[in-house]
Amino acid sequence: WDIQGFQEELLQWYCENKRDLPWRREKDPYKIWVSEIMLQQTKVDTVIPYYERFMNAFPTIEALANADEETVLKTWEGLGYYSRARNLHQAVKEVKENYGGAVPDNKEDIHNLRGVGPYTAGAILSIAFNIPAPAVDGNVMRVLSRLFLVYDDIMKGATRKIFEGIVEEIISEDAPSDFNQAIMELGALICTPRSPACLLCPVQRHCLAREEGVQEQLPVKKKK
Ligand code: ADE
Repeated sequence: WDIQGFQEELLQWYCENKRDLPWRREKDPYKIWVSEIMLQQTKVDTVIPYYERFMNAFPTIEALANADEETVLKTWEGLGYYSRARNLHQAVKEVKENYGGAVPDNKEDIHNLRGVGPYTAGAILSIAFNIPAPAVDGNVMRVLSRLFLVYDDIMKGATRKIFEGIVEEIISEDAPSDFNQAIMELGALICTPRSPACLLCPVQRHCLAREEGVQEQLPVKKKK
């Protein structure tokens, strides 16, 4: 499996085809954090206007930490899953108190923030700090299950670790931020749940599922 060829073809495609999303214009860890929390359970197109509104209301850690909860929830209104907003607000206050208002740039401290699980921690470390950490969500598992013919059930908690191991093997050490976002973008634009656009895929020559013609059977997702 040609890791270097894969990285080059993926990153080249991402560079030419990535969507212009508001959180991609900046590297402010706070903004990346907010965007990733919003994107956890909500689609990109839905998130965009809420993200803009939230950033206008609370442009910095300081602004969000100083806001009262009612105002924060009011600004979140319409996005749903309000525990996300409550946890984010709490966590931002912790960052203000314990880290001088700077989002920590190491796995342990980020992980201890409320509402920040393994995916979000990896997304912040890689996208904001350009640290080669895996950021594995459902979309990423779909792409990787096809590339590497992984039949483990993605509904099982232990399966995410398998995919994190794969990312650690193949992530670009030079461009971890672009690499993780490129995998996400591939999942959103090409390697879709149904009828993936394999003919347009920049990394089709590396895809084991494509070779076997089983891309539509992956990932394996058993009902709970
Ligand atoms: N889904 C989750 N995180 C994302 C990101 N940074 N860009 C696009 N889609 C995403």
